[in-house]
Amino acid sequence: MAEAAQKIELCNAADVDEGSAIKVETGDFILAVFNLNGAYYVMDDICTHGPGSLSEGFISGETIECDFHNGAFNIKTGEVVEPPCMIPQKTYKTIVEGDKVYIEV
Ligand code: FES
Repeated sequence: MAEAAQKIELCNAADVDEGSAIKVETGDFILAVFNLNGAYYVMDDICTHGPGSLSEGFISGETIECDFHNGAFNIKTGEVVEPPCMIPQKTYKTIVEGDKVYIEV
């Protein structure tokens, strides 16, 4: 039997300025929450390539560039855009309800 999805509250939508990201730690998750033109996207904050924190990276369009070795991922899909990253970043189903941002896991 499929387990019901769990909704986890991350932050207020207003906490994330357009075109930026914040880091949110909750339970076992360390996440980067992005606001691209008012749409919210969430992925693991720790780069799959090393210790880089993607919430501190550089956003360009739909791409987040890690500030550690300058690898890059697509913010919406987590796919690798630039090496040296090889492993896609895990992304989460993101929901905005009221003024809060949630992920479903
Ligand atoms: Fe992110 Fe190396 S830690 S590119």
